[in-house]
Amino acid sequence: MDYFNYRHGRLLAEEVDLVSVAREVSTPVYVYSKGTILLHLERLREAFTELDCLICYSVKANANLHVLRTCAEAGMGFDIVSGGELYRALKGGADPARIVYSGVGKSRDEISAALESGILMFNVESESELAAINDIAARLGCTAPVAFRLNPDTDAHTHEYITTATRQNKFGIAIEEAERMLARWDEFAACRLVGVDMHLGSQITETEPYALAIDRLLLFVEKVRRAGHNVRYFDIGGGFGIFYRGSEARDASEFAGVIVPRLKDKGLTLIIEPGRFIIGNAGVLLTSVIYIKRQSGKRFVICDAAMNDLLRPSMYGGYHRIWPAATHLPFTQDETDETPLADIVGPVCESGDFMAKDRALPNVAEGDVLAIYGAGAYGMSMASNYNARRRAPEVMVAGDSWRIVRRRETYEDLIRPEVEISG
Ligand code: LLP
Repeated sequence: MDYFNYRHGRLLAEEVDLVSVAREVSTPVYVYSKGTILLHLERLREAFTELDCLICYSVKANANLHVLRTCAEAGMGFDIVSGGELYRALKGGADPARIVYSGVGKSRDEISAALESGILMFNVESESELAAINDIAARLGCTAPVAFRLNPDTDAHTHEYITTATRQNKFGIAIEEAERMLARWDEFAACRLVGVDMHLGSQITETEPYALAIDRLLLFVEKVRRAGHNVRYFDIGGGFGIFYRGSEARDASEFAGVIVPRLKDKGLTLIIEPGRFIIGNAGVLLTSVIYIKRQSGKRFVICDAAMNDLLRPSMYGGYHRIWPAATHLPFTQDETDETPLADIVGPVCESGDFMAKDRALPNVAEGDVLAIYGAGAYGMSMASNYNARRRAPEVMVAGDSWRIVRRRETYEDLIRPEVEISG
């Protein structure tokens, strides 16, 4: 489900040779395929075609303005979680009427900015937040559209750091609590209840958690409607998993298979907040081998990309396929065959700075370019300047053309926000 393929032993993104991009822009560099982004959107649209459906791309996955513009031009809305993401989404050409605002800690400034922009709805995560939104809307003389983000107490069976909808997590409002808030709705007269929302977690590869949670929320929708609220939006959050190793991801149609029948003919607009599904497999991180080091029987392939560029392996033990960008050898992850193993690491001064450990990787030489796959989501958006490293540039490919959509940071960029040292 992507447009990264080898031809004559060279990795192409669509029609663009990635070793050439690496040589021209230097490494590390993120490369995104516009065609793949649009392909993933199309897969979602096809799968949910029977429902009235608004796809709100989750900005946190990759907030590059050109990625956002691609999404906006394709008719997507946006899921944001901060004033910064609101700013970026609007700069990227977002229609504010297609923005949903999630997150447990929206500040009053952020709420005001979102209200003034005219967003579609706030996904409210607590009574205190609802009171704050109500207060701000009353002061601004407007009505705030809100949805309850409910915690359906459903385990999505994913990494503990990215599961969000069990009682142990900070996210969402317990259904009983939301019912109590509903009973006192006259205290929130400047808010209009327009929807319900959930988000079960990320990199979900089972459909069952969606089925269970939607059934729980639908019972709540009935109660809300009986209480006289015109609930129109049913937001199921994001979470659809992608391919990291090879075959773990489900097709969008499999998720739709449990979601569509439940929401059909209910007078509801489905909102989906996919991040990873849209952009994860639409991006690779290219890195060059700086040195090869053999120590205690181990081969360390030291690259110029590091944990500050791609945090997922060290933070979640995330697996990313890694393979030379110029090779005739077909990819293998079989650590028992002839392919020698390596730890693929970066220059950062932490033992946790690795892209892969004990990974099958053909013999590579210093200067060779490696492609780290599945890096489009939560790659650049989680990158940092740790070890005073400049953040990598980003390239967007479309067909046989490509361009830099974010330049490599300079050393001046690193110190710009700091007050000048005088005397
Ligand atoms: N909606 C809400 C309210 C979310 O919190 C998230 C992700 C999404 C949508 C998008 O989820 P997706 O479709 O991308 O799974 N940094 C982690 C992932 C954190 C996800 C946080 N919330 C990682 O690299 O795996």
